[in-house]
Amino acid sequence: MRRKLVVGNWKMYGRLARNKALLEGVVAGVGALKTADFGVCVPYPYLAQAQSLLQNSNVVWGAQNLSQHEEGAFTGAVAPGMLADFGCRFVIIGHSERRGLFHESNEIAAAKFDAALKAGLTPIFCVGETLAERESGVTEQVVATQLDAVLDRAGASGLAKAVVAYEPVWAIGTGKTASPEQAQAVHAFIRGRVAQQDSQVAQALCILYGGSVKAANAVELFAMPDIDGGLIGGASLVAEDFVAICRAAAGK
Ligand code: 13P
Repeated sequence: MRRKLVVGNWKMYGRLARNKALLEGVVAGVGALKTADFGVCVPYPYLAQAQSLLQNSNVVWGAQNLSQHEEGAFTGAVAPGMLADFGCRFVIIGHSERRGLFHESNEIAAAKFDAALKAGLTPIFCVGETLAERESGVTEQVVATQLDAVLDRAGASGLAKAVVAYEPVWAIGTGKTASPEQAQAVHAFIRGRVAQQDSQVAQALCILYGGSVKAANAVELFAMPDIDGGLIGGASLVAEDFVAICRAAAGK
């Protein structure tokens, strides 16, 4: 039985004072929830703050991106080992905002995935189709290509140390959620694709759904057999909303 996982993706939101209130609210709200796992992926400057406020809690923390390089002359980039220095568990890789706005290819995402594993971080590897791709019936093809980039490079044994997030681009920040059935179909497809390489890894793989998850839709999404939790954008910025989603994952 896979444990459910809920991770907040703060994106480029946050300020010291606001973060403190938010993290304290989350810690207080999820402290008693023992049947699921929780995390937040914060902007780089706030990793130390997250570490100090979360280190004695049941909420782990991480980042939203990293460099594929170990170190070097890469102005503005952040090395995997730097994230490890601040106690990060997770790092989000291949988010559609990175792919779209920052032109990250499947190859770059796969290289980052590899670099994260080497630093002992758990990648949260995002895949998902645009609305145009869904409407032209190529969702599975798109998701397969994204997933294969990582499978080809890191193998099923690499995926065994990672989390996958299915985030349909058309559902991100739009208030439109994939229906539980739509999401389930893609989650099952992802699991099946991994199973072609290694059925044990596929069975154990944690596959999150992301895209306008709210307290109001979390219960029905998380009830689907291949949805193992959520990657939460907007609703992770409000303690009571995020906690409500965490409760849904914990079955409380
Ligand atoms: P929203 O929950 O704001 O739609 O964002 C989803 C997301 O992109 C999480 O990574």
